[in-house]
Amino acid sequence: MKDKKSLIIYFSRADENYAVGYIDKGNTEIVAEYVRDLTGADMFKVEPLVLYAKDYATCIEEAKQRIGNAPIKEEIKDISQYEVIYIMSPIYWGTYAPELETAIKNLDFTGKIVRIISTHEGSGLANMVNDIKKICRGANVLDDAIAIKGSQAKNSKSIIENWI
Ligand SMILES: Cc1cc2nc3c(=O)[nH]c(=O)nc-3n(C[C@H](O)[C@H](O)[C@H](O)COP(=O)(O)O)c2cc1C
Repeated sequence: MKDKKSLIIYFSRADENYAVGYIDKGNTEIVAEYVRDLTGADMFKVEPLVLYAKDYATCIEEAKQRIGNAPIKEEIKDISQYEVIYIMSPIYWGTYAPELETAIKNLDFTGKIVRIISTHEGSGLANMVNDIKKICRGANVLDDAIAIKGSQAKNSKSIIENWI
């Protein structure tokens, strides 16, 4: 995998987090940077058009409202140059963050290898793999997706290394 031209598409949110309090960098971003360091992949961070609240309880409700309608700051224009796409997201309400869906749903994944990592606090991969299989047209979604507990993100480098 390391020799293939790769792109990491990820969503991650700092501020108040479920198990780790207020943080400057989201759990998924920590893991995404490990993937980048180990593969040399390019990175695209999906950013919500309107930032989520800093406090966890409000964010939870906002995320629920955004399911199926989650505008983002910048679209991904073209993934044609990449062979492998890493899709990474926290689990929100049982699947990827709603903004992640907005970012990937109109891309042409024909012939692309897709590899998936979630971060979570108990749900594992939840429906993320199935939902990605449904919306990534033409993708070869590998069945080796992994789930990292958000509170363990910092300690996950060796897991990621073995997985890659
Ligand atoms: C809006 C919201 C919804 C969440 N829903 C779930 C969930 O359904 N299952 C779960 O295990 N964790 C859930 N979590 C916890 C996050 O998946 C977990 O803390 C993750 O590591 C956050 O990643 P980030 O710091 O990169 O944003 C939720 C967190 C938020 C903010």
